[in-house]
Amino acid sequence: MGGTNPYIEKPDIQKPNRKFKVTFLNLNKTVEVDPNSPSCGTGLPGSLLDIALSSGIDIDHACGGVCACSTCHVWVKQGLASCSQPTDAENDMLDLAPDLKPSSRLSCQCVPNGNEDIIVEIPAWNRNLVREGH
Ligand code: FES
Repeated sequence: MGGTNPYIEKPDIQKPNRKFKVTFLNLNKTVEVDPNSPSCGTGLPGSLLDIALSSGIDIDHACGGVCACSTCHVWVKQGLASCSQPTDAENDMLDLAPDLKPSSRLSCQCVPNGNEDIIVEIPAWNRNLVREGH
């Protein structure tokens, strides 16, 4: 399942125009993001979830990446300022996530603009669902 949610406001997204890196702390894995790479079709195009899934990193995403759950909750430890601002719909869903922090984002809605490298931590309660595939 994937796509976008037609019932929520569209986030203001600035697409990256250069390569940048995303590190997934728990997996000790860093991926280079090419802004010209195609989206995997789950989560907003270019979102942290899209980047993870496209790189063989399976973060839980029960609603299919349409901002209707909070299972894709991550903490953006570095580079948060270069990410799209959360919409009211994302903040509403984040309110349901355990262990909420100022760095909390829904990975399916958080789209980096490429101005900074990103470091992401996946919450421990979700870690057993995180695995590398492919
Ligand atoms: S996968 Fe459901 S909100 Fe991100």
